[in-house]
Amino acid sequence: MPEEIKEKTKKRVLSLIQPTAVPHIGNYIGAMRNWAGMADDFDCVFGVADLHALTIRQDPATLRRQSMEAYAMLLALGLMRGGNVVFCQSHVAGHCQLAWILNCYTQFGEASRMTQFKEKSASHADNVNVGLFAYPTLQAADILIYQAHYVPVGADQKQHLELARNVAERFNGVYGPTFVVPEPYISKLGSKIASLQEPSKKMSKSDPNPRASIAITDAPDVIIKKCRGAVTDSDAVIRYAEGKDGVNNLMTIYAACTGKAFEEIEHEFEGKGYGDFKLAVGEAVIAELRPFREEYARLLADKAYLKQAAQDGAEAAARIANRTVEKAYRKVGLWDFRR
Ligand code: TYM
Repeated sequence: MPEEIKEKTKKRVLSLIQPTAVPHIGNYIGAMRNWAGMADDFDCVFGVADLHALTIRQDPATLRRQSMEAYAMLLALGLMRGGNVVFCQSHVAGHCQLAWILNCYTQFGEASRMTQFKEKSASHADNVNVGLFAYPTLQAADILIYQAHYVPVGADQKQHLELARNVAERFNGVYGPTFVVPEPYISKLGSKIASLQEPSKKMSKSDPNPRASIAITDAPDVIIKKCRGAVTDSDAVIRYAEGKDGVNNLMTIYAACTGKAFEEIEHEFEGKGYGDFKLAVGEAVIAELRPFREEYARLLADKAYLKQAAQDGAEAAARIANRTVEKAYRKVGLWDFRR
């Protein structure tokens, strides 16, 4: 098959990450690494969700810097290869335009049921803004605007994906086929990496305890220290089993970084203690992240390249996004004076 036809028949994959803090090993294993794994086989669009970050109060200078760094991280993962698009959400105006339309096709009740809205309203009770409420419709716009078939995310985004599907189906039902109805892609291993300090909770960027998560830019000695300090249990047995959340989590991280199955890991550490195991987990994480860290450092030093890449990414993303916005505007009956 000629190369151009093959390109057109590839399904589209889309996902974004918020630049609210340095991504942790949960973001990496649950999402970013899978993106890199899909980059060759799909027509991919990946981005930095800086508009979503505004739903929580941000320091402007920090947000600007973190958005640029998050963008560099996506490039460092090699996501731009093969004509894939890597962009920053606020650089493509269509996201806000489509989000407004989708707001008008989303019921108050369904947005109110979003677990993340309830959680964030509780943890930021002094700033329960309308943006926080409309967060999932902006996310639906991110997905639907690119006509994405698959959305690789961690388990915590499942409900938002369900809402995006419902809104797409509702809109298509009223106006005829307009949006591809997206499917979540949630990997079996590592879609919910837990906190190192409270293994019953997910690892979260907003956790105030820095020992609870491993940032993907952490220095090797810090990674070892955090793994050593991870909460386990008093069993002293390395086995994946119910009630052993801390050990299960470390085994998941180890399995994801080494490609080993759980039985293989149990066998490897038979008769050994948690100290040996935790050190091995730390070393596996360091080895896994090494190529990323090196490429990230190289890219951060080349600001001119980053700026050019962001401009090219925005233009390429806008070309796809604008087509969908025009289509949706036309379908709902907005007046186009050119016609
Ligand atoms: P964000 O920035 O919170 O997280 C980025 C990705 O990491 C996944 N993730 C995890 N995976 C495994 N274990 C964990 N502990 C863990 N924590 C986070 C998330 O599921 C996500 O895939 N709303 C999104 C950003 C977004 C988006 C989108 C995603 C905006 N628009 C459109 C997909 C499609 C978010 O806040 O991700």
